[in-house]
Amino acid sequence: MPPFDPPDEAEPVCPSENAAAMAQETNDLMDKLVALCKRRGFIFQSSEIYGGIGGFWDYGPLGVELKRNVKNAWWEDTVRKRDDVVGLDCSIIMNPKVWEASGHIVNFNDPLVDCKQCKARFRADKVFGVLAHRGDDVLLQAGVEADNGDQARQVAVSGANSKTRRRIDKAGEGLQWTVFRTDERPQGQAALCPSCGGDLTDARKFNMMFKTFVGAMEDSSSVAYLRPETAQGIFANYKNVLDTSRMRLPFGIAQMGKSFRNEINPRNYTFRSREFEQMEIEFFCHPEQADEWYTTWRDTRYQWYTDHGLTSSKLHLRDHEDKELAHYAKACADVEYDFPFGTSELEGIANRTDFDLTEHQKHSGRDMSYFDDQTKERFIPYVIEPSGGIDRTVLALLCEAYTEDEAPDEKGNPQKRTVMRLHPRMAPIKLAVFPLVKKEGMPEIARGIYEDAQASGMAVFYDEKGAVGRRYRRQDEAGTPFCVTVDGQTLEDQTVTIRDRDSLVQERIAADQVVKYVRDRLG
Ligand code: GAP
Repeated sequence: MPPFDPPDEAEPVCPSENAAAMAQETNDLMDKLVALCKRRGFIFQSSEIYGGIGGFWDYGPLGVELKRNVKNAWWEDTVRKRDDVVGLDCSIIMNPKVWEASGHIVNFNDPLVDCKQCKARFRADKVFGVLAHRGDDVLLQAGVEADNGDQARQVAVSGANSKTRRRIDKAGEGLQWTVFRTDERPQGQAALCPSCGGDLTDARKFNMMFKTFVGAMEDSSSVAYLRPETAQGIFANYKNVLDTSRMRLPFGIAQMGKSFRNEINPRNYTFRSREFEQMEIEFFCHPEQADEWYTTWRDTRYQWYTDHGLTSSKLHLRDHEDKELAHYAKACADVEYDFPFGTSELEGIANRTDFDLTEHQKHSGRDMSYFDDQTKERFIPYVIEPSGGIDRTVLALLCEAYTEDEAPDEKGNPQKRTVMRLHPRMAPIKLAVFPLVKKEGMPEIARGIYEDAQASGMAVFYDEKGAVGRRYRRQDEAGTPFCVTVDGQTLEDQTVTIRDRDSLVQERIAADQVVKYVRDRLG
């Protein structure tokens, strides 16, 4: 990003009241989602009873099922259903030489700034200075946290008082904006703290790997790191997999699991956490085939997200410009989603060339080359890496699913409802079973359907408490795609009603067909 980022002349400046309203809407939606996630047991703050800990989150009974469904779907689609990808599960703590070879010890840094006044710490590339002025008349000057210049301007305006916002609105054409990243500030510009408005220090490097010690001694010889990505475990095991499986190029190794980064400013709920899960594939191929495989994986991964309920209007595939590429990468694209707090990355797909295997060969002294029996050629494979975040995928699914609409109550009167329109494959509970009343044998029949579904391996919920309308509402909030009710007619003809969460259509089907009916619609 250039050091000085004024808005394009031709670009209309968002009227300040609009910006404030948009920011309010964003906050409202996130507040409602966070409240629902806590109320219904999707996501809790880690160690909440002790005041929590920044950047760490726990998944409750519904959240853990949703997350497991994301992981299972990824594993099934990228490992089990493909002939050219195998799985791996590496340790989190590895020999520290791995991180020397990968460059993480030297290069895995974020620029850090401190507030001289309140001592708060920020990632310098996420703090922007925003100045609105008409000549020498400064209407607004602020330091804000944001992902880009446009967002920074919006945040600054929405945080200003109404008098300032009115002045900005009235300023008209003479109004000029200066927006800059704190670590790239133009000379003479002050960098202000987003918390208290105090002066910020110059940026310095901060390594994001969590350090620990292995064994009883706590000295430099026992330092180790929690892995900041799962990818390096794959590179370190590339030869093991090649030597012990029948895989030949082109082939991939997939791994999912925890990664840890000591983020300076964890934020946007679970989006930027300090402990999170990744799902990564390292796909090894001949250098001449790398461009083709890069395009294939880029498109396959984008499609995977749309297949699981992220609407394509909010999902983008953004190719990196050359200046954004890491020095070893030949190409990179991000799958991005329009979160309520801004458009941000879910997954990156990169052509990492032969960089990683070459570096590990250099540092370990082990031969990482591949010999092609047919062409008799020896070479270091190129690697295409689709690297996604499980927690970010869960968050995007939750944001996409959150809907407020109306549904009729028992008397047919429209009532407001909150419904999580999760893709059926991702929904934590697939089916809820209710007896209409707790008598006349209905609970026994309902329990029978519940037990059949459970025995088939389906995530199913039984509920006989309270009015049936309230039971539907609870399942709508949990994202359960189907609810079955056993009623008076069931006693006569062994049929039940099955209600679709999204269309609210209720069908009558045979009680012994419920499990099949639901299975056929899970996607
Ligand atoms: N091996 C390449 C790699 O790790 P990355 O872009 O740093 O690339 C890949 O991370 C993915 O991991 C991101 O697209 C994101 O989904 C997830 N991720 C990274 N940092 C994260 C964090 N602090 N919190 C949650 N997810 C994160």
